[in-house]
Amino acid sequence: VADLDVEIRQIEPGDRLIGLSLGDAQFTALKTFLQRYARIFHQQNLARTYAAFAVGERPKVVGYVTLDCGEIVSEDGRDLLDGLGIGYRYSQYPAIKIARLAVDERWRGRNLGSQLVQLALGTAKDVVCPAVGCRFVVVDAKRASIGFYEKCGFTSLDTPANLVRNEPVMFVDLYKIPAA
Ligand SMILES: CC(C)(COP(=O)(O)OP(=O)(O)OC[C@H]1O[C@@H](n2cnc3c(N)ncnc32)[C@H](O)[C@@H]1OP(=O)(O)O)[C@@H](O)C(=O)NCCC(=O)NCCS
Repeated sequence: VADLDVEIRQIEPGDRLIGLSLGDAQFTALKTFLQRYARIFHQQNLARTYAAFAVGERPKVVGYVTLDCGEIVSEDGRDLLDGLGIGYRYSQYPAIKIARLAVDERWRGRNLGSQLVQLALGTAKDVVCPAVGCRFVVVDAKRASIGFYEKCGFTSLDTPANLVRNEPVMFVDLYKIPAA
């Protein structure tokens, strides 16, 4: 990561995944997932977790993103691909999902969160898309993080049901971002 002495990579068996400090109690589940479940999800092919480690004698985890397969459901039948013009309508669109994302509170505001999102977008665009049909990256955004995802290029799904959701669906159309 530019300007930060941080290495971002997939978690490996010997990694120490403890010590993430996320502040508010509403984020405890994000901490517990990394400590207890991220490795099991890897082994079971349920999700891939990429962690950011502060480089040092003993690398310390300072953030992570977890990816799995998802979809966007067009709740009111609208065409999310506006103007594809092939006379074919999906009701679900294939997507990669940011299942979890967190940055240690002592490391926030240094672009690490957006680097983790860029990793998700790049992986979807450059690794998944060439091999498997996948049009979007989606996230169920915690309300406090909506502004962050907007800065990362995400748009809220503009349906009445979604806009009142506790964690509204936000998405990026991979077709509209350049390949690496
Ligand atoms: C949301 C989170 C991952 C952001 O991480 P971060 O490393 O601080 O974010 P960045 O430094 O990369 O911020 C990128 C941009 O978004 C802005 N931003 C960051 N958090 C924001 C927020 N909550 N609301 C609005 N804007 C925000 C930054 O100011 C920055 O803008 P800039 O490019 O104009 O300078 C982090 O605050 C976090 O872990 N929160 C708790 C867990 C959480 O909410 N996870 C998301 C679950 S869906």
